[in-house]
Amino acid sequence: MSVSTSTDYEYQDPFRPIYEVYSIVGWLSGAVGLALAGAWHGAPGSYYAAVGAAAVWGLRDVPEAMRLMAQRKRLAGRSLTFGSLSDIKAKMAQRPDAIWLGVGFRWGQAEAQLASEIKRRSPQRMIADDPRKGQPWLHGIGAVEEDVYLPIDHARGHTLIVGTTGSGKTRLLENLIAQAILRNEACIIIDPKGDKELLATARAVCAAQGRPDRFAMVHKAFAQQSIRLDPMKNFASSAQLATRVATLVARDKSLDAFSGFCQKTLKVIADGLLMMGKKPSLRAFLQYVEGGVDGLLIRTLAYHFSLVAPPQWQSTTTDARRSIAAKPGVTPDQATAKAYVAYYRESQDTVQGMKSAVIDGLIGQFEHDRTHAAKLLVSLIPILHMLTTGDLGELLSPIESDPTDQRDILDFRRIIENRRVLYIGLDSLSDPMVGTAMGSLLLADLASLAGDIYNYEGASVPIACFIDEAAECISDPTIALLNKGRGAGFSLTILTQTFADFAAAVGSEPKARMILGNANNLICQRIKDGDTQRYVAENVPETVIRSVARSQGASNNSISPIAFTGSVSESLKEETCPLIDPATLGCLPDLEFFANISGGHVYKVATPILRMEPNCGTQA
Ligand SMILES: Nc1ncnc2c1ncn2[C@@H]1O[C@H](COP(=O)(O)OP(=O)(O)O)[C@@H](O)[C@H]1O
Ligand SMILES: [Mg+2]
Repeated sequence: MSVSTSTDYEYQDPFRPIYEVYSIVGWLSGAVGLALAGAWHGAPGSYYAAVGAAAVWGLRDVPEAMRLMAQRKRLAGRSLTFGSLSDIKAKMAQRPDAIWLGVGFRWGQAEAQLASEIKRRSPQRMIADDPRKGQPWLHGIGAVEEDVYLPIDHARGHTLIVGTTGSGKTRLLENLIAQAILRNEACIIIDPKGDKELLATARAVCAAQGRPDRFAMVHKAFAQQSIRLDPMKNFASSAQLATRVATLVARDKSLDAFSGFCQKTLKVIADGLLMMGKKPSLRAFLQYVEGGVDGLLIRTLAYHFSLVAPPQWQSTTTDARRSIAAKPGVTPDQATAKAYVAYYRESQDTVQGMKSAVIDGLIGQFEHDRTHAAKLLVSLIPILHMLTTGDLGELLSPIESDPTDQRDILDFRRIIENRRVLYIGLDSLSDPMVGTAMGSLLLADLASLAGDIYNYEGASVPIACFIDEAAECISDPTIALLNKGRGAGFSLTILTQTFADFAAAVGSEPKARMILGNANNLICQRIKDGDTQRYVAENVPETVIRSVARSQGASNNSISPIAFTGSVSESLKEETCPLIDPATLGCLPDLEFFANISGGHVYKVATPILRMEPNCGTQA
């Protein structure tokens, strides 16, 4: 922060008493008194000309007095407002190329200056006690209130919404979601907390559009009304799938050594399945992580031999298997696996195409010390169990051949191509671990699809992806979505309570800064956390705040005590500060926010709460 002083500027304290009123009252009452006296005494016309001049002199201050009074009235703030879908449609019709954020005004030097004046003079004492949360005067600073829009072009890339719990993030999100649905974009809504109103709004907007079939949801608590969605559908490589699942145990950084082994094991399993033309699934992962890879190794080797080995491989291995099985403590599966492995190794030099990296990986896993492997995989088994059993298991590992289950099986590609609206409720409040795992898997699947669209296909459908309480479900694979999403037609809106939560979710503060630095637009609602306030303030342009410093002094000397010297000085001080003072962010009322959009344009905005009943109108 730099400070300079100057006396060259004209400066007016906006909170000085409105002296103009005294002048107006004095001059006008004088004029009225003189006019009455003149009438009483029958004064000549020239007398009234003087009276008129006095009245005009009194009236000259009226505009300034009215400006100051209007400003004070605005500073009393505004109430929460409610809006209907028709209101939103009307706002969209005015600017079809933009997203309506609410009503407000541009926040520039003058507004920052006024806010600084108010804070300096303690707003609580200047404005009557107010039971509402935050400081309502903040929205009164703007002289004119108008609709604030974010051009759709500028929304491509990411928008970050930060705000403490209860500040109105999800209510703002409802407005944004309603607009994305009405614009016919494919919408994917991830809601860790399972906000009932958010779910109802997304569904109701589709219905109001005359397209209730656009809406679909995945929600453990409403399993019967859910669609089924496989989070293992899209992947670029077996390593990517393995990382997707291994990350579920890697959120706790102390497990890094474990998660490395988990990743390797899962990759080996996925490779084996893919080699046989089978799709890796959460159930298959659980089966081979928990029970060992013996069965998978046997099937993969048999499949491989059938392709590359001469037909007598079966008789050769049968003899070997019998002799191994005769040894004590060897299970039939182990005997078969060992016999197959021996044949695989022996025939590598003689049979063309026998050597296979996938089989080598499986053999490595099969021969790894079992007790050691079990210790390293122990953390993966419970989470895989939770994801593959009960209602959630049916939703996330759909069995296509089950004729009794009529629920649709969808995947992100179909959702996007058909411009559906998918609500994913993670139910994190009742089970944070499962909610986080589910969110992380689904986002990784979506990220992989985004990668495909970005690399090979090009964006053809606009995709609006909304992630509420992002700290609950963002993990490493999701970062790809953040990085490549834009090129794949995604606009991501990410909501978080604090910067620290987000940094913890992505692994480190520098990483979080890098990701958030890529966010084109930043919306900040009430923020209590100091670090987050500072983060936001750092990311807005700077401005100059002026204040007057006054000093006076008097001195005398002991030889002639009655000789005084005195001094009075006044100087204008200028400080370079962020356009939004960090502390101001802690004072925002519900549903009010600062928006730093379109490359550094800062607005102060208030948004209404969407009510889906018809004709609800706007009310205080
Ligand atoms: N129907 C309503 N009437 C009045 N206030 C409401 C209503 N719905 C929400 N709010 C206000 O919105 C706030 C919650 O908004 P919400 O979007 O759920 O917050 P966040 O998602 O940031 O935790 C509440 O504090 C409440 O003041
Ligand atoms: Mg919320």
